[in-house]
Amino acid sequence: MKFKNLGVVALLMMALVACQKEPAKPIVSGEIWPDNEGVHVNAHGGGVLYHNGTYYWYGEHKSEKTSSALVGVMCYSSKNLTDWKNEGAVLKVVDDENSDIVRGCVLERPKVIYNEKTGKFVMWFHLELKGKGYSAARAGVAVSDSPTGPFEFIRSGRVNPGKTPVNMDEAALAAMDSLNLEDYKEWWTPEWYKAIDKGLFVKRDLEGGQMSRDMTLYVDDDGKAYHIFSSEDNLTLNIAELSDDYLSHTGKYARMAPAGHNEAPAIFKKDGKYWMITSGCTGWAPNEARMHSATDIMGPWTKHPNPCVGPNKDLTFGGQSTYILKVPGKKDAFIFMADIWRPKHPIDARYIWLPIQFQEDGTPFVEWMDSWTMDWFDQK
Ligand code: DGJ
Repeated sequence: MKFKNLGVVALLMMALVACQKEPAKPIVSGEIWPDNEGVHVNAHGGGVLYHNGTYYWYGEHKSEKTSSALVGVMCYSSKNLTDWKNEGAVLKVVDDENSDIVRGCVLERPKVIYNEKTGKFVMWFHLELKGKGYSAARAGVAVSDSPTGPFEFIRSGRVNPGKTPVNMDEAALAAMDSLNLEDYKEWWTPEWYKAIDKGLFVKRDLEGGQMSRDMTLYVDDDGKAYHIFSSEDNLTLNIAELSDDYLSHTGKYARMAPAGHNEAPAIFKKDGKYWMITSGCTGWAPNEARMHSATDIMGPWTKHPNPCVGPNKDLTFGGQSTYILKVPGKKDAFIFMADIWRPKHPIDARYIWLPIQFQEDGTPFVEWMDSWTMDWFDQK
């Protein structure tokens, strides 16, 4: 071969190497997930936003000994969902004892969505006031011009004061109105469950606003956003429409699975159908996941069996749902995200990320995989 041809071959080889994609890195649920500084990602109860080619993972910062917020909401960025750069605390707790987000409050399950109309990044989270256990049951909201913050805290409070759910008709509202708290002092009796179902706690909280704890956000195809949260002492989920700027509630909301005791809502939509995966309510201990579907986000919702498949499926593989990410650019690619809590050593809590699979009739399921890569979505 002539010297000149050798040069061409070498150039071609170099171009080929340059074009070759770096192999996708494995996702190993339950292990330590080091960030760009080699430190385990500290973003629990979180969610992922995809914006302009970058993924942003927001979650609760957890400390060595307490689950209370000593730092705030963390953000990590990535181009491939496996290499994460620590972007720091994007909503910081403060030292002002008069602030709702004073250091030592409980700040859980933050989620961030982007508002196309305002160009702002909007964060909602579950907030409990410092020193008051889980009694405040508030939703907090913060806003930023940039996905990596800083987020400015706007306010916190109960949700939709004075508003009744859209899925309670006049007869149901009249039935609710006839209920009296004094008649149901004993909890967990069959009569009490019936009264909860009929709206005993909706009525109790009507004036001050509905309770709001575990939560997620969802932006629909038409740009409308929804805040989905555990309400009524975690007995009933609320699906509440957000205003056009995503910074407040419109007053339109539906109750979902009343008296069903659901936490940890995570939602996605495929082929016009909404699917919601939730957990039961057992504190930091894992329990069996639940799944519901609907063709209208405001319901009615239909219950399905536990979507988990594989070892430890009855305990959600040891985790609790937090978010479902639609992977852009790949067909029907959704990632189920969950937290393995470590209440005695909160900072060491781990993550479960698994691809969502679909049965022939379109019903989703989540099968345990010891290890998988993003390429799985291209090969299925
Ligand atoms: C379960 C919830 O899902 C978590 O976010 C947290 O609030 C714990 N309960 C607290 O026990």
